[in-house]
Amino acid sequence: MSEKTNLIGELEALQKKAKKELTALDNPAALQAWKRTYLGRSSPVMQIFKRLPEAPKEERPKIGQFANKIKNELEAQFNKQEAAVHQQALSASLQQEKLDVTLPGRQPARGGLHIATQILREIYSIFAEMGFQIYRSPEVESDAYNFELLNIPAHHPARDLWDTFFTTEEGIMLRTHTSPGQVRAMRDFATEPIRVVLPGMCYRYEQTDASHEFQFNQVELLAIGKNITFADLKGTLEDFAKRMYGQNVRTRFRPSYFPFVEPGGEMDIECFVCSGKGCSVCSRKGWLEILGCGMVHPVVLRNGGYDPDVYSGFAAGLGPERIAMLRYHIDDIRDFWANDVRFLEQFSG
Ligand code: PHE
Repeated sequence: MSEKTNLIGELEALQKKAKKELTALDNPAALQAWKRTYLGRSSPVMQIFKRLPEAPKEERPKIGQFANKIKNELEAQFNKQEAAVHQQALSASLQQEKLDVTLPGRQPARGGLHIATQILREIYSIFAEMGFQIYRSPEVESDAYNFELLNIPAHHPARDLWDTFFTTEEGIMLRTHTSPGQVRAMRDFATEPIRVVLPGMCYRYEQTDASHEFQFNQVELLAIGKNITFADLKGTLEDFAKRMYGQNVRTRFRPSYFPFVEPGGEMDIECFVCSGKGCSVCSRKGWLEILGCGMVHPVVLRNGGYDPDVYSGFAAGLGPERIAMLRYHIDDIRDFWANDVRFLEQFSG
C-alpha cells in the first residue's frame, strides 16, 4: 500500500466518520464542538496538508486537492445541518410557546367626566336655552359678600344656617353658597338686565353623614330687570323641572326663609320613584325638595347697584349632587368627593 492510498484512505474514512457524527447532532453547542474537531486548525483534515511530505512528490497535488474537496464538502454538510437544527429549534419553540395573536389588546384606561360635571353641564344647557349665561365667582369669599351684602348681618341668627371654614385672614372664608355671586354679578352689570347661572363649589362646616358633606356644588340662578315677578320665577323653575325630570313632572312651592329673598320659598318635585304615593326615597312625603328660591330682597338689589323701586329680580339655588342622587339613587353624598373610582366609573359613559 503506497503513501498516497494511505492518505486518501485516511481522508475517506475521516469524512465518513465526520458525516455520520454530524447527522446525529441536534443542538448548536454540539455542532460547534463538531466544527472544532473536523474543520478546526488542528483537525485531521487540516493536518493532511502538513503531512503532504509523507507522500511521493508527484502525488502531493492530487492529495492536496482531495483534502480540499473533503474540507469543502464537510463545510457544506455542516452548514446544511446547522440550518436544519436551527429550523428545528424554531418550530419547536413555535409549538411550545404558543402566541395567540387573536387575543384582544389591553384597553388603555379612559378618563371621563365626573358625574357632578355631567349634571352641571345638563343644567347649563337647559338654562342656556332660556337665555342664561354662566357667570363665575370666587370660592374664597369675604364675609361681606357671603353674608353682609346678602342681608345677613354679623350676629344674625341666620348665620347659623351657613357655618363655614374661615381662613387665618380676618373676614376671608370659603363661600357657603353661590349666592355671593348674585351681588358680584349685579355690581358687574348694573344697571343692565341680568340672566345668569352661577355654578361652583361651596363649603360648609358640617358633621358629615350620608346626606351632609362639607363640600358640594351649587348652581345659583339670577334674573334682574324691570317688571320681573314671582310668576316669572315660578314659570322658569317649573320649566326647568320639566326639562330636567320630564314633561309630566309635578312641582309645588312652599314658603321658606332666606334673608336675601322676599318672599322666599322652596320648590319640590313629585317623587318620581313612587309618583307621590310615598316611598323611602322621598321619606314617605311623596315630594322631593330640589331648590331654594325667592324674589331678590330690596336690600340686596340696592347692594348690587339696582334701585328696588325700579328693578326687581328672582334668584334660586340648587344642588347638582342632589339631582344626581335622586336620579341615580345614590344613597351617600360622601361618594361624590371620596375619589373612589369604583363609584365614579359607573358614570363615566
Ligand atoms: N343660597 C341658599 C342656600 O344655600 C339657596 C338660595 C339661593 C335660596 C337663592 C334662595 C335664593 O341654601
